[in-house]
Amino acid sequence: MEALIAILAGDGIGPEIMREGVRVLNAVGECGGHRFELREALIGGAAIDAAGDGFPAETRAVVDEADVALLGAVGGPKWSSPDAPVRPEQGLLDLRAAMKVYANLRPVKTHPALYAASPLRPEYLADVDILFVRELTGGIYFGEKRRSADEATDVCTYHRHEIERVVRMAAQFARERRGKVTSIDKANVLETSRLWRRITDELMRTEFPDVQLDTLYVDAAAMHLLSGPAAFDVLVTENMFGDILTDEASMLCGSLGMLPSASLNADRRGLYEPIHGSAPDIAGRDIANPCATILSVAMMLRFSLGLGDEADLVEQAVYAAIEAGHRTGDIASATDQAIGTAAMGDEIVAQYRRLAGRHE
Ligand code: IPM
Ligand code: MG
Repeated sequence: MEALIAILAGDGIGPEIMREGVRVLNAVGECGGHRFELREALIGGAAIDAAGDGFPAETRAVVDEADVALLGAVGGPKWSSPDAPVRPEQGLLDLRAAMKVYANLRPVKTHPALYAASPLRPEYLADVDILFVRELTGGIYFGEKRRSADEATDVCTYHRHEIERVVRMAAQFARERRGKVTSIDKANVLETSRLWRRITDELMRTEFPDVQLDTLYVDAAAMHLLSGPAAFDVLVTENMFGDILTDEASMLCGSLGMLPSASLNADRRGLYEPIHGSAPDIAGRDIANPCATILSVAMMLRFSLGLGDEADLVEQAVYAAIEAGHRTGDIASATDQAIGTAAMGDEIVAQYRRLAGRHE
């Protein structure tokens, strides 16, 4: 197949992890005879430096033309002063809005080879297989913002259609999984949550009577994610709760550096990115974990490019490399010899080529 892929490396460790993601993409293309045309564009702080805007018109043009986009990470201390006129993160939010990617899928699946990297005891980690569906283009992230010297306001608004489409997507995924959706809100306090709960109840009752719906307050959900994560199947929630809970849940998998994401719009045309940030403290040192980006490439192959077999192989390649004992520092235990970003990429590409050869 042929695809035009926008490559948005961004800031901090973004370029380093992107390099490994691209190497895996190239290996997939080569082994399967696919033609991936990669087009790089600036986003975040790099784009602010070059064009004064975190999501400049040139980048928008590349993304508009592309079939899908792969993103590294944005942000850094250079652009983070509270009084900065433009922020890198706004570039990412503008990108998500431009692509209309309202559903952010963040799978959290534990793997025995990484139990030791998690701060939780192994008995809590067995059989954890959660799909977070985070609403991505609404809520407090996109509401009106105001700030004076002594007062600041962020408005949180949700519309019926925004709730319906993301809950519908979550329920559709639940049907293909274990048939259970847990909707997370703060309906004991927030009006947006009360609307969310009412619409979710109604939609699930009328359109998905075969899917079990549970509801949880976000504070309780934060606790249950640690005390009984294996009980969850699909979790659906609004933008900010999803941001916070997925960083928490990443620790079940050993590291924030292991969690990929897919952001889908109505056509399932997507934006793919690791859930972690730009980690400026470790940028340029070849120590960042490229797995979340490489696993995001797998999600891209599966959800936007129709290459499910290749996606499976990329995921297998990542875990085969880890099982063979190759780990970046964030997932290494005291006895493991940690390797660098590029070396981890080497191992995963080698595993992919081996698996793809056997597969053919
Ligand atoms: C994420 C990040 C972003 C978010 C930031 C960088 C704007 O934390 O993708 O989870 O809050 O959505
Ligand atoms: Mg986040």
